[in-house]
Amino acid sequence: MNTILLTVAALLLVTGEGTADRILSRRTKRELASPLHLRGIRDPYGSYCQRRGGCCPGRDDMCTVPYLDTICYCDLFCNRTVSDCCPDFWGHCLGVQPPFIGTCERNGNKFLTGQTYKENCNLCTCGSTGRWECEQHSCLMEADMIQAVNRGNYGWRAANYSQFYGMTLDEGIRYRLGTQRPSRTILNMNEIQSEQLPLYFNSVEKWPGKIHEPLDQGNCAASWAFSTAAVASDRISIQSMGHMTPQLSPQNLISCDTRNQGGCAGGRIDGAWWYLRRRGVVTEDCYPYRPPQQTPAEVARCMMQSRSVGRGKRQATQRCPNTHNYHNDIYQSTPPYRLSSNEKEIMKEIMDNGPVQAIMEVHEDFFVYKSGIYKHTDVSFTKPPHYRKHGTHSVRIIGWGEERRVDGTIQKYWIAANSWGKNWGENGYFRIARGENECEIEAFVIGVWGRITMEDMHNHHHHHRKRK
Ligand SMILES: *[C@@H]1O[C@H](CO)[C@@H](O)[C@H](O)[C@H]1NC(C)=O
Ligand SMILES: *[C@@H]1O[C@H](CO)[C@@H](O)[C@H](O)[C@H]1NC(C)=O
Repeated sequence: MNTILLTVAALLLVTGEGTADRILSRRTKRELASPLHLRGIRDPYGSYCQRRGGCCPGRDDMCTVPYLDTICYCDLFCNRTVSDCCPDFWGHCLGVQPPFIGTCERNGNKFLTGQTYKENCNLCTCGSTGRWECEQHSCLMEADMIQAVNRGNYGWRAANYSQFYGMTLDEGIRYRLGTQRPSRTILNMNEIQSEQLPLYFNSVEKWPGKIHEPLDQGNCAASWAFSTAAVASDRISIQSMGHMTPQLSPQNLISCDTRNQGGCAGGRIDGAWWYLRRRGVVTEDCYPYRPPQQTPAEVARCMMQSRSVGRGKRQATQRCPNTHNYHNDIYQSTPPYRLSSNEKEIMKEIMDNGPVQAIMEVHEDFFVYKSGIYKHTDVSFTKPPHYRKHGTHSVRIIGWGEERRVDGTIQKYWIAANSWGKNWGENGYFRIARGENECEIEAFVIGVWGRITMEDMHNHHHHHRKRK
């Protein structure tokens, strides 16, 4: 008798304590867990309780099935909080319509709670109430911004670019620009006497075959490397009188000039110029650009080194990282010089020595620029602040001109090359208001000399001829 009593008591104790403990800890977990169906039931027609082979009466914390990256329950208790039932609990266990299943409509089609579609840069989810709930990012290509620019009298036209469609404004600023304001001072040149300057000037016409076409940086915030390589390429071609017309490799800078530089996450032009002067880079043919396939972009490891061969000259120590047999000649520059922000000085420099590099602030409406003379507009001023953003970019100014506006006044402009491909803007170029420091484009302008000797000219010329 005693033994039996004891056993029963012990059993009670064990089960009592054990169950209480288990339920307590489980319950806490179940109630604290974030509701599974907060954003609507996902996979509403999947079979879970059915596959499990049935439902459990009352509360049974073991009555679970794997569901997405977590578990769901098929016990009656789950219905109490309705937070953790499997999607088919109601239909399969109770034989009723599941709650929280809304149907949303779009283009005449029905969608269920939890289903999504992408509207430009925003993900829309069918909510449990049957309404679409969309993210509220500001997109890089906003239809109403394009319309507003084209309806207004801004002096330029906007377009919708498929390569930018679906990106947010933040992504555009983060991945399509990529120049930091220079930290170190780049020495000012002596003031230049301004003389008679023409009303129109375009480097492409003065130096045919020596001005390089705009490239496309893709989703890599490395305008610091693109603008530097482009200006250096043009300057070397002009200075060598066409004996060498290298298109210098931005990838060489992105992958190898990594000290205090961010690769595809932005960089400094003073660092890029330092590298061009001290290490030098090869051509784009030799070290081709590989636009990153994912964002944020990974920077590939450096595939090109150089060593000194005396008199400040350098030579590549590796072959070109590609399967063709291109020449791995190293091109270098002299130290860059900063021009004053004087419009005339910048013009004189371009006319005498070739394209210059300029830093500018890119605002939200610049991405949709298609043609005309760009000026930052007020079309986003009535929108919430997150529709108005800007970031720092660098470009190459190659010339200037002026145009009579509809109201009869004259609008002066710069001709500049961007690095967003040739289908952006005016064949990859844009025109922007001149003489008013539009988007700060006249605030920080750089010129540079290549490092070229007569001997170089002869050698390169020779190479060039041999290749043909
Ligand atoms: C399950 O929950 C719904 C909604 O709260 C309620 O109407 C229904 O009576 C519950 N069913 C059971 C069996 O508890
Ligand atoms: C912009 O282009 C995308 C595809 O590239 C298209 O889906 C979208 O409808 C276009 N938007 C406007 C306003 O034209």
